[in-house]
This record gives sequence, C-alpha cells and structure tokens, in this order.
Amino acid sequence: MCGVVGYIGQENCAPIILNGLKKLEYRGYDSAGLAISETPDVLKIIRAEGKLSNLERIFTQEPFEGSRGLGHIRWATHGAPTEVNAHPHVAGSIVLAHNGIIENYLYLRDKLASEGREFTSATDTEVVAHLIDSELENADDLHHAVRKALSQIEGSYAFVVMSVNEPETLVVARNAAPMVLGRNENAAFAASDIPAVLEHTRKFVFLNDGDTAVLTREKTSIFDAQGLPVDRPEKLIQWDPISAEKQGYKHFMLKEIFEQPTRIIDTLRGRTDLDAGDINLNEVDLDDAFLEQVNKITIIACGTSYYSAMVGKYLIEGHARIPVEVDLASEYRYRNPIVDGKTLCIAISQSGETADTLAALREAKKLGAKTMCICNVIESTIARESDAILYTHAGPEIAVASTKASTTQLVALSMLAIWLGRRKNTMSAEDGRAWIEALRAVPTAIETILNDLDPYKDIAKQFSSAISFLYLGRGAQFPVALEGALKLKEISYIHAEGYASGEMKHGPIALIDENMPIVAIAPNDDVYEKTVSNVMEAKARQGKIIAIVEEGDDNLSRVADVVIEIPTVDQRVQPIITYVAVQLISYFIADFKGTDIDQPRNLAKSVTVE
Ligand code: F6R
Repeated sequence: MCGVVGYIGQENCAPIILNGLKKLEYRGYDSAGLAISETPDVLKIIRAEGKLSNLERIFTQEPFEGSRGLGHIRWATHGAPTEVNAHPHVAGSIVLAHNGIIENYLYLRDKLASEGREFTSATDTEVVAHLIDSELENADDLHHAVRKALSQIEGSYAFVVMSVNEPETLVVARNAAPMVLGRNENAAFAASDIPAVLEHTRKFVFLNDGDTAVLTREKTSIFDAQGLPVDRPEKLIQWDPISAEKQGYKHFMLKEIFEQPTRIIDTLRGRTDLDAGDINLNEVDLDDAFLEQVNKITIIACGTSYYSAMVGKYLIEGHARIPVEVDLASEYRYRNPIVDGKTLCIAISQSGETADTLAALREAKKLGAKTMCICNVIESTIARESDAILYTHAGPEIAVASTKASTTQLVALSMLAIWLGRRKNTMSAEDGRAWIEALRAVPTAIETILNDLDPYKDIAKQFSSAISFLYLGRGAQFPVALEGALKLKEISYIHAEGYASGEMKHGPIALIDENMPIVAIAPNDDVYEKTVSNVMEAKARQGKIIAIVEEGDDNLSRVADVVIEIPTVDQRVQPIITYVAVQLISYFIADFKGTDIDQPRNLAKSVTVE
C-alpha cells in the first residue's frame, strides 16, 4: 500500500527521501512522486508511473535541491496508476501526499467543485489538498487549516502536507493508517514505516489516531484529536538498519526464509521455562480471573496469518482444551458473531495495520470480548488497540510474501497453547517441558532443510510450466497445504489450491491427470496413514506426486515422483518445519520463472484498505 516520507532539516533532502521510498517499496505500489522546496517559494514536483526507478530517472536527468520535501509511492485505489493520479497532489499553495482512503471524497469533491475548484486527477487525495487550501483562507496557519479540513473528512489517512507560504513547516496527520515521526540533531522525518528513515535516527514517536504534528527544523509539536498539545513517548528502535537490507541474498524473500532459525530463537528468547515446563508471558496482560472464566477463543486474521490461526486452533484446542473459532477478518464483522465477556479474541497480523483485521478486532471489542494480538510490528495500530500483545520479534519483513513472520506466529501460538494449557491444568509440566524442548529444536531442524536446496531447485525445473498445483495435507498440515498454495500463487502466478487430503475425493480429484503436480505434506503424524491413502488415490489418476516426508520414510517416498525429506521433530512443531518446505518450493519455482518475487504484481505488504 502507499508509503510516505517527509523531511525538513539542514541537508539536501531529495536523496534522503528517494532512499526512504526505496525502503518502503516492499509495501507494494504502482507509481511514485517527489516534491521539494527549491527555494522558500518554489516547489519542484516530479511524478512517474510504475517503479521508483522511473522517478529516479526523471530526477537524475534534471536534479533539484532543497532541505524540505515529501515523497510518495502509490498503490492505486481511486483512479488508475497513471502519472496524473500519482502523489504529491497540488492545490493552490498546498502540496500533499497521502496513504489511506477518504470515504466521503465524492461529496467533498462536488462541494469544492461547486465553489469553482478544478480537479486534475481521479484521486481522493487531491480533494484533501483542495479542502486544506480552501480552509487556509479562514485559518491562522497551515496546521489550523489542516485541522479544519480533518473535521470534514471521513476515512483513513496518514498524510504529510506543506505550503509554499510556510517554508519552515511540514504538517502531518494520522487516522487509522501508519505514520511514525523521527528526529535527529539536523532534521525531522515523517514516514509510513520505520525502515524508511532508520539510517538517520533510532528515535521514533508513534502518532495516535486523530493526532496532527507540526515539524520544523528545530522541533516537533504534536496535537491530539481535540487540537491540544500532547507528548507522545519516544521509542528507541534497536534494529540494525542493515536488517532491512538484502545482505547478498538474491531476494528479500530468500533472506527472510534463511533468517527463520534466528528469528525463532528471538521469539522464544526469555519466554520459556524448561524446569517448570511453562511459558513466561508476563508481558501478556491477561489476568487469572479472566483466564479462569474464558470459554471461547476467536482468532481473526487474513491471508497467511489466517492459516497460522488455523494451525493455532489445532494447538490450543488440542492442548489447552478451549474451543477455538477461526475467522477471516473480512467476514467476521459481517456475520453477527456471538461474543461476550468470556470470549478472548486474538488478532494475528504481521503488519498490525491490516484494515480488515483491525475492523474485526474493533468489532469484537465493541461486542465485549477481551482482545489480544500476535503481531510483528511494534506500536502498530492493532498492537496499540489490543488489551494484550504477544510480539513475534521476527524483525522487519520486507518481501511481500510472508515467511519468517508466519513461522514466528506459529511459535507464538505454540507458546500461547502451552501457557493456556498450564494455567487451565490441561497440560502437565512434563508435557510442557517436552513441547518447549521441541520448540527449541526447531531452528536446527530448519537449518538442516536450508542446507540442501537441490530438491527444491529440481522441482522448479520439472514443474515450473505446470498450469495448476494441488497441495494436500491433513490435521495441522491442512493449513500448511493452504499456505503452500497461497505462496505459490502469490509469487509464481501459478494457480494452486490447498485441500484437506480427505476432501480431495469430494471434488478436486476430477482435476487430476498426468499434468497436475500434487504436493503431499505428509510428515509422520497421527494421520499419516490416512494421508498416504489419499495420495495413492491421486497417484492412481496419474498425478505427479511431490511428497514432503520425514527422513527415512519408507512408504510415500517409494511412490512419489519427487521426495523432499524433512527432519523428524515432535508432531506439535511439524507445521513450522513444513511451512519452510512449502516456502522453498514457491520461491524456487518463482525464481525459475523470473517473476518479481519481492514485489509480486497487484500485491501490497500492508493492506490498509478493506
Ligand atoms: C501472504 C501474505 C498476506 C498477509 C495478509 C495479512 O504471503 O503476506 O496474505 O498474510 O495480507 O497481513 P498481516 O499479517 O500483516 O495482517
């Protein structure tokens, strides 16, 4: 989704802003733009369709300089991804770049048009620029005009705005879309995400919904929704800026796949107590009185996070014996869910900004549920709005396709299942200990997989021209099948379906012929024999079997066309291991096909529209 970078300081800021936009490219976009104050009263603006490199080309042909500016990458919502619709947008003395959706923009546009204002784009953003410009006539200054405009706007926004008439100021506003502010001794920054400006500062302030801020070279002033000055706490970000770089890997996705052993150690760090066979989740603010009465858990999420939620159902129901519902966030709020004060609603989200998940979380809260989130991005909106937070600590995930965020989600869900099971007395200390040991063994098991990539490269060579793939799994491997199919679709553009193995005979078996690769996810678990029978049914119809099995498997590996061996681990952590295998299948097929792996077409990393 869109990304914004704003700068006001002492240096020539065009390279700083362009570099910041590069760090936001992972969000997914289809056009870009840059505005710089060349002199106090001359603003230079360039915009380009497509990749940031197109904008950079225009800039290099005719570079310009200035120490105040803003840049934007746009993921089209209102209007095609053309140059004319690209941000920044101009109205009178105003230049503005925006992330979000203005829901009442048509009403505002008509009103402003009736006052004689002319629009050059199809965007909702240009309407905001005009609205602020029209409010300037009766306002004390730009900030005042922005606040007057905000009182008429409905929707989500995070924007940076400047005016030729106020050369010493950048004004920022945020509501239900991410925006962070940073400052060093020379400059103030505003950005949609931390990596954009992490090389310039480690100190960040996170705005609340409804906040506005005035940035000058000397200071940052923040105002709440009522317009009153407020202090928002400054957070020190510990990540190394380099952790958001490719570090020699061909793609961010591959780097992030390889990071998983380390990130899982980070997720577990300080949270496991082997002696007690328990998990230390003091940070999770759920009191004993609530835990005693909780009678239902609803997990809400989208995409890959939803599949993690499905695995979570197996883990929590199976071991903590609390009923778990799993809902697609985009469906939850429209299905009139049954919720009361004994319901725990858990939102799972890597970004913490997914609009559907946020809306579902708010709905659950409104209906009286206690809320919690499993989230990767600190201080994200979902984290801030949840009663309790369990951070995954996967570090910045840049590739659009989620990998390390999802395996660390599974680790977080495992810890939660142990923690709940121990508190509900459904799990003994010994059981807890065995599970913790299994979790601690996961990084080494993943490293074993990562040490031999040849089978995945072979699969890519043999099957990259297939039209469609079928992924089969049973029990906790069923969500892995769904995740494998999603990952393949996303980055290789090959159609794929995930199915519960037992369901195949009820329909999709009709698709199977000698051209259909079938990824059978069949580690040695309680339902292994059943999965084998289902795979044999597919084999009997000439399907090409790619079997993900445990080392030493002497059954499925005999009939499979390609065998991927994974290490033997405790059944409860098997989905974490098989996730890695399906990630690698997709990655190498997409790499073989030469697709844009880190930024697949039409996709955005942080989906901030419903
Ligand atoms: C798939 C993927 C998406 C996200 C989904 C939810 O690889 O990344 O399906 O999982 O958009 O995003 P978050 O977890 O940020 O809420």
